[in-house]
Amino acid sequence: MGLFTRVSKIWSQDMAIDLGTANTLVVLKGQGVVLNEPSVVAVVESKGKKSVLAVGDEAKTMLGRTPGNIQAIRPLRDGVIADFIVTEEMIKHFIKKVHKRSTFANPRILICVPTGSTPVERKAIQDSALAAGARRVQLIEEPIAAAIGAGLPISEATGSMVVDIGGGTTEIAVMSLGGVVYSNSLRVAGDAMDHSLQNFMRKEYNLLIGDSTAEKIKKEIGTAIPTNNNKYPVKGRDIRSGTPKEVNITEEDTSEALNPILKDMINGIKDALENTPPELSADLVDMGLTLTGGGALLKNIDKRFSKETGLPVHIADDPLACVAIGTGKALDQEETFSSILSEY
Ligand SMILES: Nc1ncnc2c1ncn2[C@@H]1O[C@H](COP(=O)(O)OP(=O)(O)OP(=O)(O)O)[C@@H](O)[C@H]1O
Ligand SMILES: [Mg+2]
Repeated sequence: MGLFTRVSKIWSQDMAIDLGTANTLVVLKGQGVVLNEPSVVAVVESKGKKSVLAVGDEAKTMLGRTPGNIQAIRPLRDGVIADFIVTEEMIKHFIKKVHKRSTFANPRILICVPTGSTPVERKAIQDSALAAGARRVQLIEEPIAAAIGAGLPISEATGSMVVDIGGGTTEIAVMSLGGVVYSNSLRVAGDAMDHSLQNFMRKEYNLLIGDSTAEKIKKEIGTAIPTNNNKYPVKGRDIRSGTPKEVNITEEDTSEALNPILKDMINGIKDALENTPPELSADLVDMGLTLTGGGALLKNIDKRFSKETGLPVHIADDPLACVAIGTGKALDQEETFSSILSEY
């Protein structure tokens, strides 16, 4: 390696960002995932002026627990930017955090976006990164990044199907020859599962629970197919008396609560299969579909999807990092993947 390439490599600040509704991951070129934190920003308001108090891990612990003048915000709620200014602050913070020597921070940034996002939303994401100090911003479609991360043969003339279940969106895509043949972005994913659990607890047990408690239930005993009758204690507030109360729930409860969300996803997968050209459908029967995103970790989701679609269902190796890993690969192998990157 010559001196010039060596120096430019050290100074190269190129990075890839998986700007998720639930988690943001940052990959530095050639270095893999260097940051993985919740997409949460705590903002404090005093004398009508807002300033950022904490970002990421530190801010997440404040969700639902803040006093009046502090607000913990998830700026990307439904897979798109709900709060432009706060998103920009969050991107800035994460860029600064990975580039300790801020003088060199002027990176080319590759960001993945949901396939269902509109041109206006894509432009907003790009503008946020530019305002945060990026020199150049390129975008990659989330399911393509997920497929690259999962090691699927997307450049070949074979059909590959990815279902990425994140916090805000479930992305369903069929790919072949490096392109997306069919895609659909459902605005139901992990957050919707949490809300379904909250509704269920209110209706069945008269119990009010917060977002974090619902997420915890989902991760600890949530299941797509119940397998046992173990009891799990849930604390919340009784609707009628207003006082704290604890009830015991079972896997059966969670599968009932999550069922409408899982049904929406299964219908989305069936739509994708109906809209896939026959040659590629035939490939999918053999290859099956691959689940990525945090939702892929829901217990028995693979078995349930397989049972209802008739396809083999695989779970990617590291579902939560899969999109970021794929985006990082696209950054590292710029020439191979140039045709799938876009810019506005
Ligand atoms: N063990 C688990 N079981 C079920 N769900 C889980 C588990 N672990 C994490 N999740 C859920 O995964 C979701 C986050 O996944 P991920 O980080 O892939 O989303 P994201 O990329 O931030 O969102 P999006 O792609 O929609 O913008 C959250 O809803 C979280 O509760
Ligand atoms: Mg995601």
